[in-house]
Amino acid sequence: MTNFWSGYITVLVVGTIIGLFWLIFSTRKGQRKSETEETLGHAFDGIEEFDNPLPQWWFMLFVGTIIFAIGYLALYPGLGKWQGLLGWTQENQWQKEMDKAAEQYGPLYAKYAAMPIEEVAKDEAALKMGNRLFASNCAVCHGSDGKGSHGFPNLTDDQWRWGGEPETIKTTIMQGRQGAMPAWADAIGESGVKAVSAYVRDLAGLKNPEGVDVEAGQKIFATNCVACHGADGKGNPLMGAPNLTSNKGWIFGSSYTQVQQTIRYGRNGQMPAQHTLLGNDKVHLLAAYVYSLSHGEANVEK
Ligand code: HEC
Ligand code: HEC
Repeated sequence: MTNFWSGYITVLVVGTIIGLFWLIFSTRKGQRKSETEETLGHAFDGIEEFDNPLPQWWFMLFVGTIIFAIGYLALYPGLGKWQGLLGWTQENQWQKEMDKAAEQYGPLYAKYAAMPIEEVAKDEAALKMGNRLFASNCAVCHGSDGKGSHGFPNLTDDQWRWGGEPETIKTTIMQGRQGAMPAWADAIGESGVKAVSAYVRDLAGLKNPEGVDVEAGQKIFATNCVACHGADGKGNPLMGAPNLTSNKGWIFGSSYTQVQQTIRYGRNGQMPAQHTLLGNDKVHLLAAYVYSLSHGEANVEK
């Protein structure tokens, strides 16, 4: 904060307090000390207003709030750059709470972090903690049930863009991922986009509108797409290129229009890295939780 704004705020706050002080005392001056039967002369529906002073306790409440304000401003930051006598800041209160939580849960996280992810994924208590971490850090994008939505992958099925091995899931969460599907409009033209979209839908077993040249699409695919999506269209986890032979794991929609949109303009899904935010131990627990969503008890019968 610059000195100007610090001074501005200080003058405004102190001025307001002095002003209020003056207001309550100046309006009290000249008032009667005791109750009276005299009225102010207004009457409405037979109700009249007496000319009585503010009750003492009420008056003292006002004085009390002013004293509280002065005390508060002395102890806590509030007057421009003044730090307050207690040295309180939002950050150190937050840090204190975090330290307390780390002390309480740290050993527990460390215990799970030393176990293989598959083992943690079978531990009921660990999964409960994982579920809570997921709800506060991941659910905004992946949904509270982990089933994802448009643009955000479903984490409960067997379709993985980057791989579903326990350690791969952990790497994904630690370091984040950046999907890079190039835009094709310039390279293959509008008719190319239409044809290859139809071919991709064909691969996934979806029906196409009449009159689209699927065969031309196949040629375009063989030349331009196999480098990432593979000759069989089954994808490549090294690049996060999804499997195109089933639309189960698609996140950008599988209608003819949506597929064209994807191919015409490209896509850039971003999974944010979590290691700086959560650290290794929490991510380890989360990896186990995510792994359990598709491999846990609930999925055994499938
Ligand atoms: C450089 C590698 C690369 C090439 C080449 C490439 N893709 Fe992709 N493609 C990707 C990646 C990575 C994604 C995932 C993007 C994301 O998640 O943001 C993707 C996503 C897609 C999707 C969306 C799937 C979904 O989840 O909804 C379709 C459809 C698709 N590609 C088709 C094609 C077609 C057709 C071609 C050739 C014209 C092609 N791709 C060429 C890497 C590539
Ligand atoms: C800001 C939104 C966002 C948040 C928050 C987020 N993710 Fe993601 N996540 C994504 C997107 C988008 C992708 C897909 C990236 C791509 O296009 O390849 C993804 C991908 C993933 C994948 C890989 C899925 C696959 O098919 O390989 C995993 C695992 C994952 N996220 C777990 C998590 C966990 C655990 C958290 C919480 C710590 C989390 N994500 C938080 C957006 C998010």
